[in-house]
Amino acid sequence: MIVVPARMDDLPELLVIESASFIQPWSRGSFLSELRKMPPSLYLIRREPTACILGYICFWPVADEIQMLNLAVHPDYRRQGLGHRLMAFLLDQAEEKGISKVLLEVRASNWAAITLYRSLRFEVLYRRPGYYEPDGEDALVMEWTG
Ligand SMILES: CC(C)(COP(=O)(O)OP(=O)(O)OC[C@H]1O[C@@H](n2cnc3c(N)ncnc32)[C@H](O)[C@@H]1OP(=O)(O)O)[C@@H](O)C(=O)NCCC(=O)NCCS
Repeated sequence: MIVVPARMDDLPELLVIESASFIQPWSRGSFLSELRKMPPSLYLIRREPTACILGYICFWPVADEIQMLNLAVHPDYRRQGLGHRLMAFLLDQAEEKGISKVLLEVRASNWAAITLYRSLRFEVLYRRPGYYEPDGEDALVMEWTG
């Protein structure tokens, strides 16, 4: 498995995984804006350099913390350790940059993701009531401190 920065020509595959993964998927414009960032903010995982995209993660270093903005694994490849691998990549990046705090938001009912984050020592900081559109579900803000 390799984790590499996403490129413009990865966009169609990213959009397929995104729309299969979220009620309110990121738009094409949101992905384009991430794909233009330097240093890269969007990384994908694939088995080898020319193989299909299995998942991706998006995160921004902001001052002395990292904000994780998106994470998804193709529905056909879940429960194979890929989400864990992408999060481990983020935590390695944090360590490399000397950053000891990572924040993320997750739907309160998203047990798959919450279980994954807890397994990596993320803890719930607080709840944001009615945060998500279109259904008004609460967000949990989770934090990892190295
Ligand atoms: C959340 C998501 C990224 C997890 O990816 P994944 O590759 O399936 O996760 P992994 O295989 O690395 O799982 C690692 C651990 O997380 C937990 N986990 C993952 N999926 C789970 C599920 N459906 N139910 C319970 N625990 C789960 C388990 O502890 C798992 O370890 P195990 O398989 O040894 O029991 C994936 O389910 C997904 O893309 N969901 C839709 C998008 C999404 O919700 N993204 C998160 C936004 S905050």
